[in-house]
Formats: sequence, C-alpha cells, structure tokens
Amino acid sequence: RVHARAPRGIVAALTERPRTLRALVQDSGLPRRSVEEILGCLGDDLRTGSGGTFVLRPGAVDRYRTMIDYGELRAGTALDPLAAEIGRHSALVTTMHELIASAPRPRTELDHVPATAATVVRRAVWLSTHYDLREAHLLCVGDHDLTSLAVVLLAAAASPDPARRGPAVTVVDIDEDLLEFLDRTARSRDLRLRCLYADLRFGLPPAVAGSADLAFTDPPYTPQGVSLFAARGAQGLADRERGRVLVAYGFSERVPTLGWKVQRALLDQGLVFEAIWPAFHTYAGAEAVGARADMYVCQPTSATWKHLDRPVPARGPAPTAIYARGRQAAESQSAPLAGPIVAAATGFLAISPGRGVFVG
Ligand SMILES: C[S@@+](CC[C@H](N)C(=O)[O-])C[C@H]1O[C@@H](n2cnc3c(N)ncnc32)[C@H](O)[C@@H]1O
Repeated sequence: RVHARAPRGIVAALTERPRTLRALVQDSGLPRRSVEEILGCLGDDLRTGSGGTFVLRPGAVDRYRTMIDYGELRAGTALDPLAAEIGRHSALVTTMHELIASAPRPRTELDHVPATAATVVRRAVWLSTHYDLREAHLLCVGDHDLTSLAVVLLAAAASPDPARRGPAVTVVDIDEDLLEFLDRTARSRDLRLRCLYADLRFGLPPAVAGSADLAFTDPPYTPQGVSLFAARGAQGLADRERGRVLVAYGFSERVPTLGWKVQRALLDQGLVFEAIWPAFHTYAGAEAVGARADMYVCQPTSATWKHLDRPVPARGPAPTAIYARGRQAAESQSAPLAGPIVAAATGFLAISPGRGVFVG
C-alpha cells in the first residue's frame, strides 16, 4: 500500500481529463504494463477517445475521487527543487524542442530513446547549479539527446560575452549524422562544442582521454552498456579525485534484478554512488521503465583506476552485446545453439550444398 500514490495518481489524472497511455506512463513513472493493469481495473468506466486517449465516464468521476482520496493526494505533491530554475529557462525548453525535432531520427540499433526537451534543460540546469562550469570541460559520452547543446546554450544565455562563455563541451559518438548535426548547429550559433567520432567499444579518442572535469552519459541500459560507457567516462576524466561520472539509468520496478546487475556492473568499475537522484530524466519512449531514469553521480575510487590502468588485451572482435534493443541486443546474444540443433543443421548443409538453413 505504501506504493499506492502512483496508481492513485493515474486514476486522479483520468478524473481530470482524457490522457494518452504515454502521458500516464510519463507522469506516473510506472512501467507501461503496470499502467495497463490499472486501466484494466477501471473496466467499463473507461473508454477510448480521440487521439488514442483514455476517457473516464463522467458519471464515475466522483466515485473514483472518493475511492482514491483525491483531495489528500493532490494536496501533497512533492516539490521539485529544480522547478523554479528550469521555469526561468522556458525559452531554452522551446529551443530544445525545435532542435530535438530537427535532429537525426532515433536509431533503434544504437538504443536511442530521446529524452524530453524539459529533461535536457533540466540536466543543463542541474549541472550548472551543482558544479562550477565556468572553466570546466564536460565530456558527453554519446549524446543523441543533445544535452551538450543545452549546456552550451544555457551558458551562452548566462554570459553573452563569447570570451566568457562557460564550459568547453566535447561529444563522442558513433552516429556520424548526429555529430554532423551537433557540429552544424553549434557553428551556426557560435557555440563552443567539439564533436568526435568514436566507437566506444574500442576506446576513447586519445585527444579526449584524461581531459574532462565531468563526464555525462545516458548509456545503453544493459550491464555491459552501462559499464562500458561509465568506464569510458572515467577514462575521460582529468582529475582522478575530483572528476565525476554522471550516469542516467533506469530499470523497471517489475525487474529489480536487472537494476541490481547494472548497479553491480558500475560498482565493479570501482565507482561509488555519491548520489542517486530518482526519476531525474523523462523520455519520449522507454515505457517499460516508466519513461524515467535516475541520475547516478559516480565518484571513481582507486579501484576504478586499477581496473582502467590494466594493460589492454590484444584487440579481438568488438564487443557487440552492449545494446538493449535491435539485432545486436545483449539478450539476443546469450544463448548458444544446442548441440543436436547444430548437428542437424550441419547434416542438412552437408547434403544440400549451396543451400542455407534457418534455425528457430
Ligand atoms: C543509449 S543511447 C542514449 C540514449 C539517449 N536517451 C538517446 O536517445 O540518445 C547511447 C548514445 O551513445 C551513442 N552510441 C551508441 N553506441 C555507441 C558506440 N558503440 N560508440 C559510441 N557511441 C555510441 C548513441 O548514438 C547515443 O548517442
């Protein structure tokens, strides 16, 4: 019952106006399946309206409000400590909306799930109010969300003098269209942003290693992906004691084991969680994890450097199984074919030269 506030919030929202499933997931932070189960409980009192919305039967509104103690729920909304500062930057949220809409489309095979414009500004506001960014170097380890642009635009708005424009920001990413877009946008607005191509599975560009004060990453949400991107972030840090790796990561409360595996992978990198800010990031998608992720503020320890300073083994094939979705997803790589299946397929191929065989 202590977790009833979010389900009550879903019913409360429906008593106020029609809502889409996406909006209900985003606002509640509950996994899509949990939201669907709650909607299922409303039975005939719920119908579908225009634009894929769910509409509560008007005659049932009072009954549901009594049932969920609507007044108590709405009287006790938690305050967001960043709300006032973000409110001052509503123009930047609009700009980020436009930039996200004109950026290269998300690519499933790279686990792109765009953060909302409000979230990207939230990251920039949080970074600039928690750290002294004036002379800092921020490394974005992957940046399809355009967090780098939000950071430099926020800094430019604070100080129009080009000589005192706040942080130097570098993006490393494998997506060349994205890098081209970031570069073009930054140039057209006279912003300081360096974009570098890298396949992080092979390493960081040497120009970036050991150069940053902070590294931010929203990595593929697998233990392998989070661990790899966080390690690359740590490798990018200049100051081994004062540098921080900031990681966006969320898991479904329905699958806590996955969250445990990812957190363990971060701990195995010798990173200690200085803070975990719950539900910091919101996404247009990622509904399985409630369209939310937490902000992990990770401090490297001596174990991190011991791990990263180990000699690199001779280069083998690229580790592909870092992604949560797409052809190269970590889960799709895990099960080797059973021996009898391999034997049957091999036997078929032996008697049918030039033919292929599908298994499964
Ligand atoms: C999981 S996505 C980030 C999720 C984020 N919400 C978004 O949609 O961009 C990871 C980021 O790293 C980049 N990326 C993915 N695989 C990479 C790789 N092997 N090397 C470098 N960057 C990679 C992606 O292009 C993306 O910017």
